[in-house]
Amino acid sequence: MKKLLVLLATLATSAHLYAAPAQVALCATCHGKDGISTMPIYPNLAGQKEQYLYLQLQKFKDDTRPDPIMKGMVAALTDEDMKALAKYYAELK
Ligand code: HEC
Repeated sequence: MKKLLVLLATLATSAHLYAAPAQVALCATCHGKDGISTMPIYPNLAGQKEQYLYLQLQKFKDDTRPDPIMKGMVAALTDEDMKALAKYYAELK
């Protein structure tokens, strides 16, 4: 029983980590911790469509949506990172 509890706790912790990808700390500088941007020139991301967000990140990466700031941000992100970030911001209200 104790082992089961430990397992459940571990699962809950990793699920939480998945919900808030590590890169969010970086994105938050401009897009806000809660997905509401910190400055008028940065867009809000909270509650935006998951698939839209993921597509924009892909476009910044392959330059179909050229943006010098966001290109630098996505350069180090994997496809999995971009999916996780899109999911995270889409779930914020
Ligand atoms: C230095 C500030 C800055 C940081 C840090 C930053 N962004 Fe951005 N982001 C911007 C700006 C500026 C735009 C608008 C680009 C444009 O005008 O096309 C943008 C646009 C976006 C968009 C498109 C939004 C839309 O409505 O089309 C997404 C998605 C996005 N950022 C995600 C992220 C993620 C995820 C991170 C972290 C990995 C991040 N950004 C980090 C400045 C930033």
